[in-house]
Amino acid sequence: MATDATIRSIYHDPEYYAKSFQKYAELSSKFHVLADWCDLVFPDVVCGKLESVHARSQSTFRMLGVGSGSGEMDLSMMSHLRKLFPSIQNVAVEPTTDHVEKYQSLFRAKQHLLEGVETEWREQTLEGFKKSVGSSVSYHFISAIHSLYYVDDYRASLRYLYDMLEDGGVMLIVVVSDDSGFWRLWKKFSYLEDSRMKFINSEHMRKALDDIGVKYQSLRQRSRVVATECFKADSEVGNLVLDFLIHVMHFRKTAPPELQKEVLDYLETSDCCDPRDENGEILFNNDWEAIIVQKSTN
Ligand SMILES: C[S@@+](CC[C@H](N)C(=O)[O-])C[C@H]1O[C@@H](n2cnc3c(N)ncnc32)[C@H](O)[C@@H]1O
Repeated sequence: MATDATIRSIYHDPEYYAKSFQKYAELSSKFHVLADWCDLVFPDVVCGKLESVHARSQSTFRMLGVGSGSGEMDLSMMSHLRKLFPSIQNVAVEPTTDHVEKYQSLFRAKQHLLEGVETEWREQTLEGFKKSVGSSVSYHFISAIHSLYYVDDYRASLRYLYDMLEDGGVMLIVVVSDDSGFWRLWKKFSYLEDSRMKFINSEHMRKALDDIGVKYQSLRQRSRVVATECFKADSEVGNLVLDFLIHVMHFRKTAPPELQKEVLDYLETSDCCDPRDENGEILFNNDWEAIIVQKSTN
């Protein structure tokens, strides 16, 4: 099906993307769910694996964040890693200016809790980072939380990141799960994918790691977004969140009316959302999967 020439994926305008992502994050309690995951699961599945690296090496612990956004998740992970590693060098690769600025101010606000952590912000894409740094540095921990949709080639990126891991180092990848509402929505309207993002899910990640011959552990996490406002045409918040869900910039302004109806009708089905809850809210299935890889020690 041909699409209207003005329909473009949301990442064409990084500042609009940041605004839309922020509203989505608020309505999905994204940072709370991720923070809980960091407090309850991360210490076991990531820190537990890294303790042996710590035992072998007392040198500075190096961590790399890919598409770190405004830093909430990275800072939560850092607060746990600090308990094991007193000296941490953190590199955050993040191309969106607005996100880098938010991350820097959050870092400053929490600095008293992050003694021993030094952070270098690199306002660039992973591709730009690869061009400038290559594989000259290795890391004990690498994370890419909901960011591999935007890299040029996620398979090559996984390989590149894996190669940069220290022996015994751990990589954490988070993407939408292959049975989430996100994935079903993207799959049904796959022709809306464009050069600025790829509609990918946890199964794609697992398959790419299988192809490299790397073992992994994978954990699913339930998550919901309050999507009720998305169905109100004149809601500013609803339109920002709708744009994030379908990943199209100004969807209600650029998509033909029949496509808008098709997307909204499908969004409300049980493929994407739970039945209205007791408060009349429509909850979008935002389930995600964490995939954890440890580089084997030789
Ligand atoms: C959905 S946000 C996730 C942010 C953060 N990791 C979190 O979970 O809160 C995706 C991030 O990837 C960044 N990004 C986009 N293209 C990228 C690229 N080619 N390389 C690295 N990061 C990229 C975006 O700017 C954005 O901050």
